[in-house]
Amino acid sequence: MVGEVLVGLNCRSGRLYVDGTVGEGGHAAAILDRIGPEGELWGLDRDPNALQAAATRLAHHTSKFQLFQRSYAQLGELLAAARRPGAAGILLDLGLSSWQLQESQRGFSFTGDEPLDMRFNPEEPGPTAATWLNRALETELERIFREYGEEHRARRIARLVVQERRRRPFQTTRQLVKLLEQALGPGGRRGRLHPATRVFQALRIAVNLELDELTTFLTHAPAWLEPGGRLVVISYHSLEDRLVKQGMAGWDRTGVMARLTRKPLTPAAAEVQANPRARSAKLRIAEKIAH
Ligand SMILES: C[S@@+](CC[C@H](N)C(=O)[O-])C[C@H]1O[C@@H](n2cnc3c(N)ncnc32)[C@H](O)[C@@H]1O
Repeated sequence: MVGEVLVGLNCRSGRLYVDGTVGEGGHAAAILDRIGPEGELWGLDRDPNALQAAATRLAHHTSKFQLFQRSYAQLGELLAAARRPGAAGILLDLGLSSWQLQESQRGFSFTGDEPLDMRFNPEEPGPTAATWLNRALETELERIFREYGEEHRARRIARLVVQERRRRPFQTTRQLVKLLEQALGPGGRRGRLHPATRVFQALRIAVNLELDELTTFLTHAPAWLEPGGRLVVISYHSLEDRLVKQGMAGWDRTGVMARLTRKPLTPAAAEVQANPRARSAKLRIAEKIAH
C-alpha cells in the first residue's frame, strides 16, 4: 500500500519522517524518493538483519537517512537525544516481514522445521518461543492462545502442550505443528486456516510483547509528532487494528489528533493477488491538530 502510505504521510521535502518498522526498506525507499535531498528519514527496527537489508537497499539514496536498532516504542528517546521536537510523519507497518517468515529460520513459519525462536531481535535476552512454551503455566498458555490467537480451543491446546513438554521439551516448529495437527485433527482446519495459524500468531505476539509495544507507542505518538504531523499505521490482525482504531478515536474525541480514516483503507485486488499476505492489511491515518 505504498501509494496510500505516501499520501497518508503527506510527505514534504525538508521534514523528518520516521519509518518505525523499516524492515527491508521498501516503504522507506519510496518515502526517500518523495522527500528528496532536503528531507530526512529515520528507520527503526528491532531486527538487526532487517536493518542490514535496509542499509543495502537504501545505500544509493542521496537523501539523509539514519537506521536505528530500536523498537518504535522507543522513538521518544531518539528524538530527545537528537533534540528534535517531533516528526512530520510516522509510519508503522506492523507484524513480520516476508523475509522473517520465509527465510529467517527463526520459527515464524509452520511449514518447515526450524528452531522455535520467534524473537524479532534474536540478540535480545528475552525468552524464545520454545522457552516460553516450556515454562509458562498452563493457565497462562491458555490465556495467550485465547487472547492473542483468538483460538477457541485454547484450553485443550494448553493441556496438550503441558503433556507434551513433560515428555519432550519443545525445540522446533515441527514438534509443535505435529502436536497441533494430531490434537485438532483434520477438522482442526478452520476455513482456509491451518490449525497452527492461531497458535503461531499468539506465540509471536507473546514472545515479542507486540501489543504492549503498540500500546506504549499509541500513548506517546501525539507527543512525537509536530503540529500537523501524520501517523499512518498498517495492521494485519484484529487485535492490533482494534488498538489503533480505539487510539485514533480517542484522540479525535479529545481534539489531540484528527482521525482521517473513519474506515480503514485496504489494499486493491491487484496488490492482494501479487502479495496474498496483504489481504488482511488495514491502514489508518491520523493528523496532529495544530493548536
Ligand atoms: C511488515 S515488516 C515491515 C516492512 C517494511 N515496511 C518494508 O517496506 O520493507 C514489519 C517489521 O517490523 C519490525 N518490528 C516489529 N515490531 C517492531 C517494534 N516494536 N519496533 C520496531 N520494529 C518492529 C519487524 O522486525 C519487521 O521487520
